[in-house]
Amino acid sequence: MRVLGIESSCDETGVAVYDDTQGLIAHALHTQIAMHAEYGGVVPELASRDHIRRVVPLVRKVVAESGMELKDLDAVAYTAGPGLIGALLVGAMAARSLAYALQIPAVPVHHMEGHLLAPLLEDPRPDFPFVALLVSGGHTMLIKVSAPGDYQLLGQSVDDAAGEAFDKTAKLLGLPYPGGPYLEKLAAGGNARAYHFPRPMLNSPNLDFSFAGLKTAVLTAVQGAQREGTLNDRVRADLARCFTDAVSETLVRKCERALNYCRLNTLVAAGGVSANSAIRDGLTSLMQKRGGKVFFARREFCTDNGAMIALAGMLRFKAGQFAALGVDVFPRWPLDKLRPLHA
Ligand code: KG4
Ligand code: ZN
Repeated sequence: MRVLGIESSCDETGVAVYDDTQGLIAHALHTQIAMHAEYGGVVPELASRDHIRRVVPLVRKVVAESGMELKDLDAVAYTAGPGLIGALLVGAMAARSLAYALQIPAVPVHHMEGHLLAPLLEDPRPDFPFVALLVSGGHTMLIKVSAPGDYQLLGQSVDDAAGEAFDKTAKLLGLPYPGGPYLEKLAAGGNARAYHFPRPMLNSPNLDFSFAGLKTAVLTAVQGAQREGTLNDRVRADLARCFTDAVSETLVRKCERALNYCRLNTLVAAGGVSANSAIRDGLTSLMQKRGGKVFFARREFCTDNGAMIALAGMLRFKAGQFAALGVDVFPRWPLDKLRPLHA
């Protein structure tokens, strides 16, 4: 069986074909980063308009590259939320129209379920159950994943998401949008002992996160250096390094606590921030120490992409969970309210 996946929740148009025996057979992505960069963030209306321009050519390209024809598809999956309403509607309308024309089901997919399952595109893939750390631009969550579709929220950010903290801190350091990848490069040359930033919520007994205070600590350090006239490239690199270490250590400790709480020793890390090498290294050494395993998606599938939507769509399709004729998208959509696949 073959499912076409369409992702359009934010600033990337992603399309892919997933085959349930061969795995991923084709995928393509158009990123709008350059278009939004001059505004310092995503402009929702520009995003929607660009998705309209890109989605059909990308579908054509991916279908051609997969060596099949549209009539060989069994379902069309699309990101139904959470995300920007206009951007979601473009992918939803494209997917539903195509599915209607081909007389096949359309499958709505939760964007964060897509991220969470993306490491299943890799070989080896994690076995269920596991603890998932979801760290993206809009969400930071720890989830107990008992089976596909069976998600128990263990903790989440009470303020900024991890990616948001990266992006805002990068902006403070004068880096372009989206800051995460630029901050990673800058941090590589930094001294880990130059600053000691707070490790937020490490002492609180729950599994929640808070990153707003950390961002403020960096701001105070930046302002201090500006006043003294010492804010040069080396200081910026030190700030980036020490900020990254604070985020990484916080994520590692909370993952450790979540694994202990669930009595599990398999960890999956997903979402844009899981592309960060320092964070991948921190989680890898945690799991080595515990004699457990950690799974990531390849870097290009940590950030938004069509492959994760095609895969999640395949699982929902096989479970018989198709959309009704109406087009529903959900700008806000709690992950732990999804129907289990086996229900
Ligand atoms: O998962 P994603 O593509 O989109 C959402 O669903 O939000 O995540 C995007 C976020 C951005 O905040 C971006 O700066 C961050 O992931 N990100 C990174 C890295 N690559 C992307 N953060 C830190 N290090 C990276 N290498
Ligand atoms: Zn995402």
